[in-house]
Amino acid sequence: MPLELTANPLLSERTTLRLGGPAVVEAVVRETADLDELSAFLTRETLPPFVLGAGSNLLAGDGPLELALVHIADCPGPERVERDGEAIIIRCGAGLRLPGLLGWAQKAGFSGLEGMTGIPGTVGGAVAMNAGSYGVEIGDLVTRIRVWSPAGGLVWLDRSQCAFDYRHFSPVKMPGKCLVWEVELALGESDPKSVRRAMHGVYEKKKKTQPVTAWTAGCVFKNPPEESAGRLLDKAGMKGVRLGHMAFSDIHANFLVNLGGGNAADALELMDMGRARVFEQFGITLEPEVIVL
Ligand code: EPU
Repeated sequence: MPLELTANPLLSERTTLRLGGPAVVEAVVRETADLDELSAFLTRETLPPFVLGAGSNLLAGDGPLELALVHIADCPGPERVERDGEAIIIRCGAGLRLPGLLGWAQKAGFSGLEGMTGIPGTVGGAVAMNAGSYGVEIGDLVTRIRVWSPAGGLVWLDRSQCAFDYRHFSPVKMPGKCLVWEVELALGESDPKSVRRAMHGVYEKKKKTQPVTAWTAGCVFKNPPEESAGRLLDKAGMKGVRLGHMAFSDIHANFLVNLGGGNAADALELMDMGRARVFEQFGITLEPEVIVL
């Protein structure tokens, strides 16, 4: 089957911040068989590819973007694979949304993912940036990852071949970029009620401290070592600062919110303003967590 291609896919329709102009093309990959087609597409295509998950950590520019998007859809799983001592190993495709995985784990009574309640991204996206919240980083749970690259095809990497850091993942000894295709995680065994209670607790806490229902891309800046970017931005007076239809959240200063009709130019200017103020007051340079396209 030929690869499903869409011309001029709008980033504003594919990102949780609802910003961004059109890319040139989007290739949709649904099954393993599509990867050969993807390889041919990437050889033909001279534009840089960008693998798009749920678009929940992206700030895409307003103008046309010279990019070929790759989107993984229709993912298999999740499924229970085996027991390994105390742990239950589960497997799922990278395009599965985290809320879907968490809902499944809750019903099955598998614990470990509760801290990630409320993260809207895909499993692949979460692995690619080692997403984390409330004491859980997805990298801590990974046992194996199946990655794909045009040169190497599909390869399973076990834990020792993966380097996870704060908001960072890289496969050890793999030249070039790769796409996360499938993930195995080690979860604990609990009961559905306790898992639901824990997830509910995390969501209630998040609701009080983060703008969970607003159009955002999660935290904009990484936390500097031993510090919180949100606290620094707050102390620097950035909470609620607005430019056009974009603003730093008045709930948590490290979230940029699209109030409706916002644009990336204003978002980037607000980021510059926040960085400059934090640097002036604290001598700390904030590094973006969001990927700016
Ligand atoms: N704080 C303020 N003002 C603010 C925001 C925070 O004073 O406007 C203070 C809080 O009161 C608290 C401290 O800063 O004392 C830390 O705040 P919080 O617990 O909200 O955690 P965070 O460090 O700001 C990190 C992650 C979040 C994750 C939460 C919960 C980063 C950049 N952020 O936030 O992850 O959900 O911990 O575990 O690592 C994300 O990565 O997109 C993200 C949202």
